[in-house]
Amino acid sequence: MLDFYKDKKVFITGHTGFKGTWLSRILTHAGAEVIGYSLSPPTNPSLFEQIKIGYNSVRWHKCDIRDRSIIAHSIRMIEPSIVFHMAAQPIVRTSYHEPLTTYETNIMGTVNILEAIRKTPAVRSFVNVTTDKVYENKEWERGYTEDEKLCGHDPYSNSKSCSELVTYGYRNSFFHDKNSTAISTARSGNVIGGGDYAVDRIIPDCIRAVKTETDIIIRNPSSTRPYQHVLECLYGYLLLAEKQYNDKSFEGAYNFGPDDEGCVNNEKLVNLFCDAWGSGASWRVQENSGDAQPLHEATFLKLDCSKAKSVLGWKPRWNIKTAAEKTVEFAKLNTDEDRTACIDRQIQEYFGGSLCLNQ
Ligand SMILES: NC(=O)c1ccc[n+]([C@@H]2O[C@H](COP(=O)([O-])OP(=O)(O)OC[C@H]3O[C@@H](n4cnc5c(N)ncnc54)[C@H](O)[C@@H]3O)[C@@H](O)[C@H]2O)c1
Repeated sequence: MLDFYKDKKVFITGHTGFKGTWLSRILTHAGAEVIGYSLSPPTNPSLFEQIKIGYNSVRWHKCDIRDRSIIAHSIRMIEPSIVFHMAAQPIVRTSYHEPLTTYETNIMGTVNILEAIRKTPAVRSFVNVTTDKVYENKEWERGYTEDEKLCGHDPYSNSKSCSELVTYGYRNSFFHDKNSTAISTARSGNVIGGGDYAVDRIIPDCIRAVKTETDIIIRNPSSTRPYQHVLECLYGYLLLAEKQYNDKSFEGAYNFGPDDEGCVNNEKLVNLFCDAWGSGASWRVQENSGDAQPLHEATFLKLDCSKAKSVLGWKPRWNIKTAAEKTVEFAKLNTDEDRTACIDRQIQEYFGGSLCLNQ
């Protein structure tokens, strides 16, 4: 399936982030020409710096997605045939502290890139990466389907619901011609994997704790989320972009999440992490968050991914235990050479086939 990307010009916003770095690496191995449009990596350390994505194989436009003239100019000059939009302020807790930046980046960023694509007919396939949190959460035990009401609760989730609506509006208004760009959104579950250093995400928090030999502290042990390895959703985005490139009728909204076994509560996820880490890693529940007003968090969230399975032929390949083990395998490494080799090995293992792993 990655053969499709050989010699394609692919534009990625948010390529300096966690998912963006993995995606850039997969695509360069597949023989694509990758151009990234992002601010600096959002964390220090970052996977982007560790595997040195920015230094050889990927051209980097170090620019802001909120700057509509620069994004328009970049897309017009480069004329990519495929665009993945991942640049975002992606942290729920940050969005409570910085709602304005979150809304500006996540909504106007989407408007700006769609405006740019509207004026660049060379783009044949556009995938806007949103999230599982776009749905109005009703604490249902069943998974949300793509036609369920969009209304995220907090500024992050809500801005991504808006990003979905913006995409829907642009598709209906400007991309209805059968020869126009195929436009889709991808709603994926919570991802884990090597090289995520974000604050306030459960597995990066666990890794920081065990590395500093402190207790892992969990806020909400019973909160349940659809957890999956980062390669699972990237596989979904890549498949979707390919299918709709060849046939516009594939465009639309798609959920990409784990099977039921990967829909686990934080307690189960952290236990899997501790088992994989070994050396007596353990956790306890946070007694008092210290927040004057505790921030709202949904208790139960699950995605129904039958559309992606039946329409695209996508399905998860690694279960949650494997995902935890692969994450720990990376986290235990100490040099950038070993980390790069680990990422490449995992990509090869996941996708198989003929990747050019010498780049
Ligand atoms: N990580 C997850 O669990 C998860 C789950 C569901 C959806 N998502 C979505 O996937 C996408 C990528 O997430 P991630 O975890 O890799 O995030 P990340 O924070 O690691 O990366 C964010 C990227 O966006 C870029 N960026 C931020 N603001 C920008 C701006 N104003 N202009 C240009 N670039 C900007 C950053 O430089 C970085 O490259 C996001 O859209 C996020 O909402 C992530």
